Amino acid sequence: MITLLSHLTHVEIATPDVEASVAFYLERIGLREVAREDGKVYLRSWGDYTHHSVALSEGPEPALVEMGWRTTSPEALDEAARRVEDVGVTGEWSDGGPGRGRSYVFTGPWGHTIRLAWEVEQYEADEANASIFPDRPERRSSVAGAPRNLDHVTIAASDVRAFAEWHQDVLGFRIMAYTVLDEAPITVFAVITTNEKSHDLGIVLDSSSRPGRINHYAFWVDTREELLIAADVLMENGTDIEYGPSIHGIGEQSFLYFRDPSGLRIEVNTGGYRNYVPDWKPKDWKPSTGSNSIYRNGAMPMSMTESFPPDEGRPTATEEGVYPGTEEALLNPYAVPGRG
Ligand SMILES: [Fe+2]
Repeated sequence: MITLLSHLTHVEIATPDVEASVAFYLERIGLREVAREDGKVYLRSWGDYTHHSVALSEGPEPALVEMGWRTTSPEALDEAARRVEDVGVTGEWSDGGPGRGRSYVFTGPWGHTIRLAWEVEQYEADEANASIFPDRPERRSSVAGAPRNLDHVTIAASDVRAFAEWHQDVLGFRIMAYTVLDEAPITVFAVITTNEKSHDLGIVLDSSSRPGRINHYAFWVDTREELLIAADVLMENGTDIEYGPSIHGIGEQSFLYFRDPSGLRIEVNTGGYRNYVPDWKPKDWKPSTGSNSIYRNGAMPMSMTESFPPDEGRPTATEEGVYPGTEEALLNPYAVPGRG
């Protein structure tokens, strides 16, 4: 198969209070607003090459509306759409909207909507926002710890391996690693990628009854020092850190998790390996081998198992500590057995 996809371009999320979310992303994270159209607000990190990387729209709950990848060519876009339809999924062609041209939008077997486009607007800042450096799409943010660009999305799906394999077979993602529980042969996490990063799409096991959920999405900073500054700045301005800063075993990225005003989880990450091996064979990690925390010395907070929108009728992990009626191991797959 030719390489179909090049990189993650954007994520659109729903939030009950768009203006509260916009204010948070601008003031606390350091994104910049570039457009408003049809009720959507378009935001970008200073180093994103495309028009925007985040779109916010109003919805009753925090949720994933769509995530987008750029294809490698116009032909790759047509080929990707053909391959999606060959496996029985019917999408739609669209004129693309702000910052992009013709695109193919489909909802996959696990309920997640993906937009594929070749034509994207390469961002060029106006004079007030222009960088002094030729390759930067705009000048660096003046917010301390502001991310350079969008990095990845992690969704929740009821069958982690089937989701990973579908995206490998249909769209050419490489499967990079799995996490299997220590206690049982249950795959609870996977990372897949369209490029040299360990992942631009992560998958956590979803035990809820709601399709199409998101666990978090992530921005990139260039250095671990910036990540630590981001954590400090967030805390000093009233945003609790949910988990981290630490380092994932899988992918070896430094990470930091917190919540936006809708409750949606945001990650900032940096570092990690680059992998160019075209026939890479994914290995099985376990929580005890450091899949989530490379230091193997602490359990992930239970709140990290929440995905969005919340599972109807169930209290959130934050409210109850653990979902009722479900084994803790399944819901906290990254806990280190006997520790934490
Ligand atoms: Fe992540």
